[in-house]
Amino acid sequence: MFDLIVKNANLPDGRRGMAIGVTDGRIAAVEPAIHAETAEVIDATGCLVSPPFVDSHFHMDATLSYGLPRVNQSGTLLEGIALWGELKPLLTVEAIRQRAEKLCHWAIARGTLAIRSHVDVCDSRLLAVEALLEVREQFKSYIDLQLVAFPQDGVLRSDGAMENLKRALDMGVDVIGGIPHFERTMDQGAESIRQLCELAATRGLMVDMHCDESDDPWSRHIETLTYHTQRLGLHGRVTGSHLTSMHSMDNYYVSKLLPLMAEARVHAVANPLINITLQGRHDTYPKRRGLTRVREMLAAGINVAFGHDCVMDPWYSFGSHDMLEVAHMGLHVAQMTGTEEIRQIYDTVTVNGARALGLTGYGIEVGCQADMVVLQAGDVHDAIRLRPARLFVIRGGKVIAKTAPVVSHLSIEGKDFSVDFLHPVVG
Ligand code: FE2
Repeated sequence: MFDLIVKNANLPDGRRGMAIGVTDGRIAAVEPAIHAETAEVIDATGCLVSPPFVDSHFHMDATLSYGLPRVNQSGTLLEGIALWGELKPLLTVEAIRQRAEKLCHWAIARGTLAIRSHVDVCDSRLLAVEALLEVREQFKSYIDLQLVAFPQDGVLRSDGAMENLKRALDMGVDVIGGIPHFERTMDQGAESIRQLCELAATRGLMVDMHCDESDDPWSRHIETLTYHTQRLGLHGRVTGSHLTSMHSMDNYYVSKLLPLMAEARVHAVANPLINITLQGRHDTYPKRRGLTRVREMLAAGINVAFGHDCVMDPWYSFGSHDMLEVAHMGLHVAQMTGTEEIRQIYDTVTVNGARALGLTGYGIEVGCQADMVVLQAGDVHDAIRLRPARLFVIRGGKVIAKTAPVVSHLSIEGKDFSVDFLHPVVG
């Protein structure tokens, strides 16, 4: 007896026509067919059934604030940081909570059920921390929300930031953040990494730093982060986010760096939508893309995940929190259009993100949590191509969001045509 069976499901690994049986909120069977009593059946014929999307890097305290108190006129990273500084004194707990709540609704509707959000701790009032801890609690049945104590203005550069960061951890924030490339000197950047990693070791926490979000090939804080990860035995618990300077680094240097990252099991998170719009701004032509070396890191055995980073905030005025939009951009900018590479890109917004966040019970396997998304697309290729409707979003075996299939009806010279954009059957 099952509570739910999702039948005729295509899975991201290429298996087709599978049945997924759910009991007590967990996946109890994944078989070619299940003949058993069940309370509810979802027929997923022709559809990809995926584990939920994971957003490994987001800023929920700033999201949906586009236009407050003004618009970023240049669209640059530095004007975005200045604008965030103007907005911070105007923030209230309630306003942050309301915007975050709306963003969570958008995320659920898009099938994203795990988000790691950085939260700025440089304002000693810690309003954003208070608001997002409430949101984490409010949505815990729907989204695994991890919070990172993020010293946006530099943990050493900004007065009181280290104390605020520790207070945020005491309040229940999950992960230690940092921004070494924004400290006053390279040495101060390295010192910030040492202090923050030691704090993580003492408290038994994970680390996720904004690291080398720069076009400067000499911004090499990822090397220091990797060193302290290895020194302190933090293997698998540390993430370097952005890593855009790696785009511009010397190839020989990178050939030494990547095996060290793999050895320390440092996760890498790229944010393709943001990296392609904010990096290379000081270049004339040729103009660098700025995205980190996704293909090369994957080949070196490093876990690479993608984040959305921003949706309608001081840095980025686009987006609807769709991780397939992120995957689509990442695939193009990293030029990963090979058959196996398309599947690897899909992993960056699903299983690799789950690994970076340390989620347990993730996946479409027996014993995993019954969290899934039924997409109006037959495979991962079409999912990335179309960014299609999420027909059903399932959490713990229960449907928590539905979207009707998208079909356009055309009338041409008296004839009716239906268009769903799915690829025609080959052969
Ligand atoms: Fe970020």
